[in-house]
Parts: sequence; structure tokens; C-alpha cells
Amino acid sequence: MDFRLDGKVAIVTGAAVGGIGEAYAHALADAGASVVCADIRVDAAQAVAGAITSSGGTALAVEVDIADRTSVDAMVAAATEAYGGVDVLVNNAALMAQIVATPAIQYDLEQWNRAFAVNVTGAWQCIQSVTPSMIQRGGGRIVNQASVGAYPAESVYGITKLAVIGLTTTMARELGGSNITVNCIAPGMTQSDAGKMLTPEGSPFREMVVARAAGKPFGEPTDLCGTLLLLTTPAGEWLTGQTIVVDGGFVMRP
Ligand SMILES: NC(=O)c1ccc[n+]([C@@H]2O[C@H](COP(=O)([O-])OP(=O)(O)OC[C@H]3O[C@@H](n4cnc5c(N)ncnc54)[C@H](O)[C@@H]3O)[C@@H](O)[C@H]2O)c1
Repeated sequence: MDFRLDGKVAIVTGAAVGGIGEAYAHALADAGASVVCADIRVDAAQAVAGAITSSGGTALAVEVDIADRTSVDAMVAAATEAYGGVDVLVNNAALMAQIVATPAIQYDLEQWNRAFAVNVTGAWQCIQSVTPSMIQRGGGRIVNQASVGAYPAESVYGITKLAVIGLTTTMARELGGSNITVNCIAPGMTQSDAGKMLTPEGSPFREMVVARAAGKPFGEPTDLCGTLLLLTTPAGEWLTGQTIVVDGGFVMRP
């Protein structure tokens, strides 16, 4: 089994310190990839890229607003200029803590549009922007980030994540002939800085998660990285169009 990415170039969006993207960026760099740590908070992405380079890896930080196509194209151009192209895209950036608590019925149109602009349109236009480079290099790997919040969707956040699952199957079908796989990870309650903020000790939501999970109810960002490597390395080349739930058995789908 080949779980290596030597000579490959990966973009991770939402790769700021304290988030799941930080763990993803380190995992891809440890597997041998040159990693572009892209985030709207570029200083926090720079901290991750700096940590990777200090430990002998290859990384750079790029500022991006994935909702802005010009900014997305500039991110891909920066990756191409630095490392020659793109082989792996991890669509991890999203609005979560900012949007998850407000009931859908209370959203105004501006909030609704922003949630979709980042979580859905953002992921789609990152895919559109990297695809020519992947095709030129003979193929690629795309991993989208959904959530157990899509099963069932119970908030606007959940609706956007359900759309990301649909984006995954559609893009897998369209890009399969170009040797590009498109898969999705749906994490459970993950103890990133944002995840911890949403599940404080003693909260009813935290207790519900503990009661329902079959295994470990709360995961660390690193608990998702084995799945990420499967979906981005030659070991997983026959997998496409799939959403893998990684959550300690909180959601179990037939
Ligand atoms: N933590 C959890 O429990 C959990 C569970 C399921 C899914 N997820 C998903 O995992 C991903 C990472 O979550 P996290 O817990 O690290 O939260 P997070 O808020 O730390 O991560 C999101 C990152 O995206 C960046 N971002 C937001 N808007 C952006 C934009 N327009 N352009 C570029 N970057 C932008 C943020 O700055 C942040 O670094 C998200 O897609 C989230 O929905 C998280």
C-alpha cells in the first residue's frame, strides 16, 4: 500500500492554526507533499506553514477568500508559481461556529447567501480553479469536508454540508474520466479550537453526543488524518464519489 505523496503539491483551504486544516496540512507534508496553507486569516495560516518548514517539510501560506473567484484563482496561481501545479485539493474551509447556532427560520437573505457562498460555492470554485492543473498533470485528488451535521441537516450549516456531499458525487462523475477522484470526509465532533467552543463541558449538546456515540464521542483533528491520507494517496485510487463518516459511531448509515 502506498500512502506517500512525495513530489505532489497539495492545497488545504482553512489551514489556520487551531483548526482541522492545521492537522491536514501537517499530515500531507509528513507524507511528502508540498503544502499550500490557504486561509482568510493568513497570519494563522503562516503559523502552520512556518511550523511545517521548521520541521523539515515544504509549505507556504496564501491568503484566500474562497467565496471570491479572483482570490481563489490567485491561490492556485501562487501554488503553481511556487511548486509547478496542483495534485491535491482539500476543501476544508467553511463557516461553522459563526452560523451553526442560528435557526434557519431566523436567517436573513444576506446571512443565507454568505453561508452558501463560502461553504458550497467556495468549495465548487476551488475545484473549478484547480482542475486544469490536475488534468495537465495527469490526474488529481479532491477531498471535500462535510459534517455529521448533514445527517440529517438540522441547520443552515447542515444544509450547506449536505450540498457539499452532492457536490462530491457530481464532481466525481464529471472528473472521473480525467483521473481525478473526488471524495468527502464527514467528521463528527472534533476538538479543534472551534469544535471545543461548540461543545463546552456540561452542555446538553455535549451530553447528547456522549450518550449517542458508539465509540469515542469526541475526536482530535489528527483522528481524521488517516482517512485524508487514504483519499489523497495511491492507496485510495479506486475510491471516488464517497463520503466517509469519521465520528466514533455517532452517525451510522446503512
Ligand atoms: N470541529 C468540528 O467538530 C467539525 C465537525 C464536522 C465538520 N467540521 C468541518 O471541518 C472544517 C474545519 O473546521 P474547524 O473545526 O477546524 O473550524 P474552523 O472554523 O477553525 O475552520 C474553518 C477555517 O476556514 C477559514 N475560513 C472561513 N471562511 C473562509 C473563507 N471565506 N475563505 C478562506 N478561509 C475561510 C477559517 O479562517 C478557519 O481557519 C470545516 O469545514 C467544518 O465545517 C468541523
